Amino acid sequence: MVALSGEIKELFNRTKVMPLATASKSGVPNVAPVASMRLAADDTIWIMDNYMQKTLKNLQENPVAALSFHDPETKRCFQVKGSTEIRTSGPDYEKFRDWMRSKSDKYPAKSLIIMKITDVFECTPGKDAGKKVL
Ligand SMILES: Cc1cc2nc3c(=O)[nH]c(=O)nc-3n(C[C@H](O)[C@H](O)[C@H](O)COP(=O)(O)O)c2cc1C
Repeated sequence: MVALSGEIKELFNRTKVMPLATASKSGVPNVAPVASMRLAADDTIWIMDNYMQKTLKNLQENPVAALSFHDPETKRCFQVKGSTEIRTSGPDYEKFRDWMRSKSDKYPAKSLIIMKITDVFECTPGKDAGKKVL
C-alpha cells in the first residue's frame, strides 16, 4: 500500500468531485463521478455507494479502481489506483453511513467501498505526465 502526503493529500482533500473508473471482468470500462469520498487513512479511501450500478457490479467481479483529481487553477493532477473491498455492515460501514445520513437522510448509503491505494501517477500536463510518483 502507499500513503498520500503533502500536496497530493491536500489536493485530494479539497477536491469536491472526482471520476471513479472501474472495469468489468472482461475489461469493459466505466467511469462515474463521485463526491462522497474521504481519505480514511493516508493509504485508504472510503467512497459511498449511494446510486452505483455498473460501478458496483464491476467492483464485485474485478475489485480494482482508479480516481483522478486536479487543481483547475494550477492543472496539478494525480491518478490514484487501488484494490477495493465492499462493506455493507460493520463499524466502518456504520460510521460512513452515519456521516452520509448526517448530510441528508435521502442518501441510501448502500455500501462502503474501501480502496487501498496501490499506486499514484502524475497527470499534470507537461514533462512529468504519466510518471509514477508513489
Ligand atoms: C457530482 C456528482 C457526484 C456524485 N457522487 C456520487 C457518490 O459519491 N456516490 C454515488 O453512489 N453516486 C454518486 N453520484 C451518482 C453516480 O455518479 C451515478 O449513480 C452513476 O450512474 C454511477 O455510475 P454507474 O451507474 O455506472 O455505476 C454522483 C453524481 C454526480 C453528478
